[in-house]
Amino acid sequence: MANKTVIFKIKRQANPDTKPVWEEFELPWKPGMNVISSLMDIALNPKTRDGKATTPITYDSNCLEEICGSCAMLINGKARMACSALVDKLEQPIKLEPFSKFPVVRDLSVDRSVLFENLKAVKAWVPIDGTYDLGSGPRLSPEEQEVAYPLSNCISCCCCMEACPQFNENTGFVGAAAISQVRLFNQHPTGKMLKTERLHALMGDGGIQECGYAQNCVEVCPKDIPLTKSISSVGGQVMKQAIKDIFTR
Ligand code: SF4
Ligand code: SF4
Ligand code: FES
Repeated sequence: MANKTVIFKIKRQANPDTKPVWEEFELPWKPGMNVISSLMDIALNPKTRDGKATTPITYDSNCLEEICGSCAMLINGKARMACSALVDKLEQPIKLEPFSKFPVVRDLSVDRSVLFENLKAVKAWVPIDGTYDLGSGPRLSPEEQEVAYPLSNCISCCCCMEACPQFNENTGFVGAAAISQVRLFNQHPTGKMLKTERLHALMGDGGIQECGYAQNCVEVCPKDIPLTKSISSVGGQVMKQAIKDIFTR
C-alpha cells in the first residue's frame, strides 16, 4: 500500500538513574513487520518522527521465534513478546515500554535476574551430580510426560510476573513461573528428591500464600502454561507438607 506508515511511541531511559522520556518514530509499512523488525529498522536510521537524530533503541532479543524469552516488554500496555507481536494486529501509535516491575537497564531492556534467583530458591532442577556414568534415568509414563511437557515450555520471559498484581516489592512473591517449575520438578522421579525443600521454600512470606488467584498470569503466558493449575497443585502439596511438618517436629 503506497505511503502507509507505522507510528511507534517508545519510552526511553539512557540508564537506570535517568528519568524516562518518550520518543515517536514513523516507519514505512512493510508486509509482515513485527515489533523487533521495526526496532531493527529504527536502528538503521535512528531519527524521531520530527526528524531529530537520536540513538538506536536498546532492547533484548535473540531467537526471534518466541523461544528464548528475552524480548518481553509492554506493548500497548500488555506484557508480551516483541518478536511475535505483528504490527498489523496492533493499534497505533504502538506504545512500547520496558517492564514496570523489573529494574530498567536501558530503554526497553530490563534486569530479570529476580526470576533466576527465585528459581534457585525453589531448587528448580533435577539433582544429579558428578561426571561418572549414572546409568539410564527413571522412565516417565506417557501420562506423566503429558503433564510435564507443557510445564517444561517456560521461556523465563517474566510476562506472568509483570502481569501479576501480587508480584511487587511489598510481597516479595516468587511468582507463577517459579511455582510452576516446582510442580514440574516435584513430579519428576529424580526431581522428587528435593520435593520437601522446594515446598519449604514456598512457605511463609513471598511464598505461594501471596497468590491472590487473579489469573492474570495464565492470560499473558506466551507458552500457554497452565499456571493456575500449577498454583492449585503446588498449593495442595505445600498444605500437606505443612501438616506433615506438625507431626514430625
Ligand atoms: S493467579 Fe494471580 S496472584 Fe496468583 S500468580 Fe497468577 S496473577 Fe499472580
Ligand atoms: S510461565 Fe509463561 S509467562 Fe511465566 S516466565 Fe514462563 S513462559 Fe513466561
Ligand atoms: S527474541 Fe526470543 S522470544 Fe522473542
